[in-house]
Amino acid sequence: MSSIISVPLLVANWKMNPQTCAEAKALFLSVKKLLAKKTSADIVIAAPSVFLSTLTKDAAKSNLHLAAQDVSSEKMGAFTGEISALMLKSVGVSHVIVGHSERRARGELDAFVTQKVQLGVKSDLTVVVCVGERERDAQGKYFSVVEAQVRSALQGIASSKLAQLAIAYEPVWAISTATPSAHPATPEDAHEMLLFIRKILTDMYGRSAAERVRLLYGGSVTEKNIEALVARSGAQGYLVGGASLRPEEFATIVSAVQ
Ligand code: PGA
Repeated sequence: MSSIISVPLLVANWKMNPQTCAEAKALFLSVKKLLAKKTSADIVIAAPSVFLSTLTKDAAKSNLHLAAQDVSSEKMGAFTGEISALMLKSVGVSHVIVGHSERRARGELDAFVTQKVQLGVKSDLTVVVCVGERERDAQGKYFSVVEAQVRSALQGIASSKLAQLAIAYEPVWAISTATPSAHPATPEDAHEMLLFIRKILTDMYGRSAAERVRLLYGGSVTEKNIEALVARSGAQGYLVGGASLRPEEFATIVSAVQ
């Protein structure tokens, strides 16, 4: 229980793609075929929620897991348009992404992220919490931005639940679709921030509990930069957006990580 989880975690964030259920199924099946024998990583497909229950049947017979890209901050009741953690669990979803910068940009507050993490963990989902600064400044204030996001997201989470959490460092400036000037973080920049996040966790929970949380990097991960990231970022996995919609490229990324 006390060492850093050694199985890497790869999350394919499809975002609001593809546009039809048939296309989602076809994309899922090509990823499944390409990854049929590659089992030494946890591979999670974060498809749009509306497609998840269709995909659970195919996922059940594979080494792929399913994630939602968001979840309600409320347990149940009169919340039109929301999907609860228990609903996701009940259709066979095992993971959920919380606090993605594209949700934060649409008004998601830290307080909602906190509630979503708590409900996700309580519902037995593995929660991938996204943190990351919008921009970097010469004084290094962006470290405090990330620290505040991490501390807030983990409020009320007991150390016994930490294995159900992963934290993805996704600087907004690195996300391929965020700005025309988006560029991946260097492996060294990612490494520095992941060490910083590990230090915050150690401060909150102690060293051995902190080491149960997988720390991921996300932002313009492609087949071109994955080897350098694997060699030097120190991440225990990756959150892949655009490149995850190209099955062959995603499979190349998975092989590089294993
Ligand atoms: P990207 O997206 O890989 O297309 O940059 C990552 C993400 O937003 O999770």
